Amino acid sequence: MTRRQDGPRPDKHVPESLGFGTLSVHGGNEPLGDGGDGTPIRTSITMANSYHLPEDPSTLDWSDPNHLIYTRNTGVNQVALQRKLIALEHGEAAVALASGVAALHAVYFSHVDSGEHVIVSDTTYEATYKLWTDLLPRKYGIEATFVDITDLDAVAAAVRPNTRLITTEVIANPTTKVADIAALAQIAHDAGALLVVDSTFTPPPLYRPLDDGADLVVHSLTKYINGHGDAMGGAVIGTAEAVEPVRAQAMVDVGGVISPFNAWLIVRGSVTLPLRLARHQDTALELARFLEADDRIAYVAYPGLESHPQHDLAARQLGGRGFGGIMAFALKGGPDLQNRFVGALKVITSAVSVGHDESLIVHVGTSGPRVAAYPEGFRTYGHLRFSVGLEDVDDLKADLSAALDEAWAQ
Ligand SMILES: Cc1ncc(COP(=O)(O)O)c(C=O)c1O
Repeated sequence: MTRRQDGPRPDKHVPESLGFGTLSVHGGNEPLGDGGDGTPIRTSITMANSYHLPEDPSTLDWSDPNHLIYTRNTGVNQVALQRKLIALEHGEAAVALASGVAALHAVYFSHVDSGEHVIVSDTTYEATYKLWTDLLPRKYGIEATFVDITDLDAVAAAVRPNTRLITTEVIANPTTKVADIAALAQIAHDAGALLVVDSTFTPPPLYRPLDDGADLVVHSLTKYINGHGDAMGGAVIGTAEAVEPVRAQAMVDVGGVISPFNAWLIVRGSVTLPLRLARHQDTALELARFLEADDRIAYVAYPGLESHPQHDLAARQLGGRGFGGIMAFALKGGPDLQNRFVGALKVITSAVSVGHDESLIVHVGTSGPRVAAYPEGFRTYGHLRFSVGLEDVDDLKADLSAALDEAWAQ
């Protein structure tokens, strides 16, 4: 849509007035060349570690994160991806990194110093939990308080004079607990802290945490934004003031850079994000209702169900645009029954990750330190985290149904 003539401009915005589908197709695309006859119409993959230097490089800042010097500083494909994410998330700036966890660590590492304090949701993705229970306190001397993020009084009570940030997921992995982002932003800002939101389960256009006051949004691009299960990446998007230290410290100085090829793949995958998301969500809601109606199922945790404890908050916050494509459930029985059921599935694959084109399921048991914060059903039966894919809903229903019958028959 736009043509690059004089090198990428990292802070350039695609007009927000364009619809989400249009931004998903055109956002960030800036082909090389003058746009004349025979030049490409899309950003090409630039698999180069280094870029030509100016005639006099002697005064260059070798750590400049916005100058095309070296791919760890920045690169053509990173810039294209970042620009697209800025447009999709309504941010001012973005940095793309090697994985979602690299992006989470990048924010914590760049924004919190030794001796400072953070408030962390008691239900998070496993690596976030490990970072805050072990690595960051032990190695950097940062203190973390875990709270039930749905208890806003508890969050406010956990604030200390040295609290630097509050960090949560919008819909938590794996329990699907929903956080009230606008209310948490208020608490964070009253405390002079930042609100950091992992929105991996709720990519745009489903939700944009920055619009509700979050300071930084983190994505595992590995999941819905790429959507095809073939490239890892992570991103941090937000105000320029909050993103720049992350870019400078975590990318240039620490080196968590994304490969140009993965950045290119993720830009390509994200073209169909709104179409895929609509399908994931429609199918997920139908399957959640289908499972909930079966009396062999102990529970189904999915924010789209009226039985979900934060259903009303999710409906209000996500503005009727859906509830995502991920749920957790369990059969009424022990681990052998859950394993028999998963083993009997023929279309749905037993594998980790979420947001891929194919449906993925993973059986997680009842042991481990994180489980104490989970709802009763998770503690009793374990859970099957189910990321609903793009297959035909009738095939998925038939697969679940046949596997339930087979597991029960034994
Ligand atoms: C909510 C959430 N955040 C972050 C991550 C980490 O992403 P990555 O695997 O790309 O490092 C995951 C991975 O499952 C996740 O579910």
